[in-house]
Amino acid sequence: MKAAILVESLTGNTWKAGEKIAANLQQEHWSITSLSPVKSPDFAGIQDADVVLVGTWVHGLFVVGQAPWAIDKLRALPAMAGKTAAVFCTFALNPGKSLDGMTRAVSSRGADVIGGLALHRAKLDAHCEEFAVRLVDSLAAR
Ligand SMILES: Cc1cc2nc3c(=O)[nH]c(=O)nc-3n(C[C@H](O)[C@H](O)[C@H](O)COP(=O)(O)O)c2cc1C
Repeated sequence: MKAAILVESLTGNTWKAGEKIAANLQQEHWSITSLSPVKSPDFAGIQDADVVLVGTWVHGLFVVGQAPWAIDKLRALPAMAGKTAAVFCTFALNPGKSLDGMTRAVSSRGADVIGGLALHRAKLDAHCEEFAVRLVDSLAAR
């Protein structure tokens, strides 16, 4: 399988998550066509990929008002009709319904979003591995 990864990150956690997910998938013999920022997506990498992974971070008042940062940029991603996608967000306390908003935004670009996972910023290693395992398993089951 070939995956393109798109990341929005302010302080680096989500970018790190993208790198860790890439490493986990490579161990499963996937290739990574690109790891690029949401604001300047690598078009060729997306076109070449079977699966597009989109990550951002949770913004809000920690207990209320949580939302995925840069949702407008997710809605402005290139058209991804025919691509499978999955979403992830990093957070500190509570991700709220961020994954639902991300799923809607990425689906609006035509991708088939098969799932998502919120990754705690203090548990990135374990949560990125979990994301990769779930992704590989759910695609194997199709
Ligand atoms: C202004 C601001 C607001 C935040 N609001 C929330 C929040 O409401 N809930 C939460 O769980 N984390 C919140 N966080 C924590 C970030 O989601 C977390 O640190 C994330 O990993 C940052 O990703 P990044 O390093 O890729 O920018 C907030 C961080 C910032 C800077």
